[in-house]
Amino acid sequence: MTPNQQNHSKVKRFAVIGNPVAHSKSPQIHAAFAKQTGIQLQYDLLPTPIEAFESVVERFFAEGGSGLNVTVPFKERAWTMAQGGLTERARVAGAVNTLWWGDARLHGCNTDGVGLLADLHRLGVDVKGYDVLLLGAGGAARGACAPLLEAGCTRLHIVNRTEQRATELHQHIARELPHYAARLSSGGLNQAQGRWPIVINATSSSISQAAPNLPGMQYMPGALAYDMFYAAHDTAFLQAAKAAGADRTADGLGMLVGQAAAGFAIWHGVTPEIEPVLNMLRAQLSHS
Ligand code: ATR
Repeated sequence: MTPNQQNHSKVKRFAVIGNPVAHSKSPQIHAAFAKQTGIQLQYDLLPTPIEAFESVVERFFAEGGSGLNVTVPFKERAWTMAQGGLTERARVAGAVNTLWWGDARLHGCNTDGVGLLADLHRLGVDVKGYDVLLLGAGGAARGACAPLLEAGCTRLHIVNRTEQRATELHQHIARELPHYAARLSSGGLNQAQGRWPIVINATSSSISQAAPNLPGMQYMPGALAYDMFYAAHDTAFLQAAKAAGADRTADGLGMLVGQAAAGFAIWHGVTPEIEPVLNMLRAQLSHS
């Protein structure tokens, strides 16, 4: 069956594709959104060998699948696959976390940044007029750059363990959004010196219970440290941030639900409520 021969009489099928993906909360989040909005859907985990990503995506849509969430480490490859149907946000990010089939082609969007900004808003944090230090230059960091700049941060300094990747991301965003180029800077983790009001960890270091080493980096009074990763207890980055004087800390569970809500809106044309699903997940985490 080709994608445009999909059987629309069946319940629409969605999945999250990644490696690893077994612990993804996306099926639960989308099930909760479906219940909330009265939309029927099926949402599965789609574990995939690293080398088979493209063929698994093609087969999923050829067999009538409606949409995929893409997670580590495939967001950049999803961007390449969806070249014919990228949203502006995805084009600028250079990474895709939401795929869908329509008008005989594959479409891709990046909703990570929208999820992050929605969560910062929920926390009462407005980046407008503030300098932001962004740690990391992988798929998670890519989605955050343009939305942070558009939200009005005065400076976005990207630092990464592999300095070259930070430089590449800096140059990519400066090329895509030249009117923001003067606000961008980049370097290695040892170039994060200064006093920062907002620090966002987009590295995956917390997965291995490590915090990026940031010599000379200081938190301003009242500063926020935000980790895109989440856990039942403070992540390694948030523990280090508290010890270094960050007055406010937050993990990425709200961003996860926020990016899912933005993807749900693309797929179904209905924007679900984030807060009740976030509360449910938080309660589950604290009992785990
Ligand atoms: P993701 O899609 O989650 O961003 P990724 O593209 O593999 O995944 O990127 C992981 C990011 O975390 C990178 O910025 C990586 O730094 P490198 O580019 O140097 O690999 C960063 N990272 C992972 N573990 C880290 C650690 N222990 N300390 C600092 N940075 C780390």
